[in-house]
Amino acid sequence: MKYAKHIQNLLNLEGVNLDPRKDASHYYQAMCRLLQASDCTIDRIAPYLTAPVAPLEYGRNQIYCSDLFEVIVLHVPPNVETPIHDHGEACCCVHVIKGSTLNRVYRKGADESLHILSSNHFAAGEFFYSPHGQIHSMYNPTDQPFVTLHVYTPPISGNHIYPHNVLQSHKEGV
Ligand SMILES: [Fe+2]
Repeated sequence: MKYAKHIQNLLNLEGVNLDPRKDASHYYQAMCRLLQASDCTIDRIAPYLTAPVAPLEYGRNQIYCSDLFEVIVLHVPPNVETPIHDHGEACCCVHVIKGSTLNRVYRKGADESLHILSSNHFAAGEFFYSPHGQIHSMYNPTDQPFVTLHVYTPPISGNHIYPHNVLQSHKEGV
């Protein structure tokens, strides 16, 4: 079975009763288990890798969307960073499939400027969670592309992109 159909079936069978707003920690752990059970390998996901389409500098491919879930495959070349963004109404669970990513999390100051709150590397096989309202970016500091699988719930809406010029110095938490 093609991977997109496989993850769709799993989400619809096992993900429908999970509510990240009720218990985010339980939701995150359950989504990690579910994504692990989906057995996503680079070989299985290779058909869904896409090249960058301007203005994006990385491939972004939506492989599934329902009322509850949206699934995206990211394919990020070396030395490329996603825009600083939030997910609007959605939260997100990320599974690193290949390579490694630097996940930067930001907080917004009273004057709307952004400050780096944390900066963590995640390698192939690892997961991380972006809760509702979090502002983050994902950077590829390596010389190899990284590939990540993202499950959002609900599907992304009302999200924001933040210009890099609102970012204050990297003094904090790097
Ligand atoms: Fe994101």
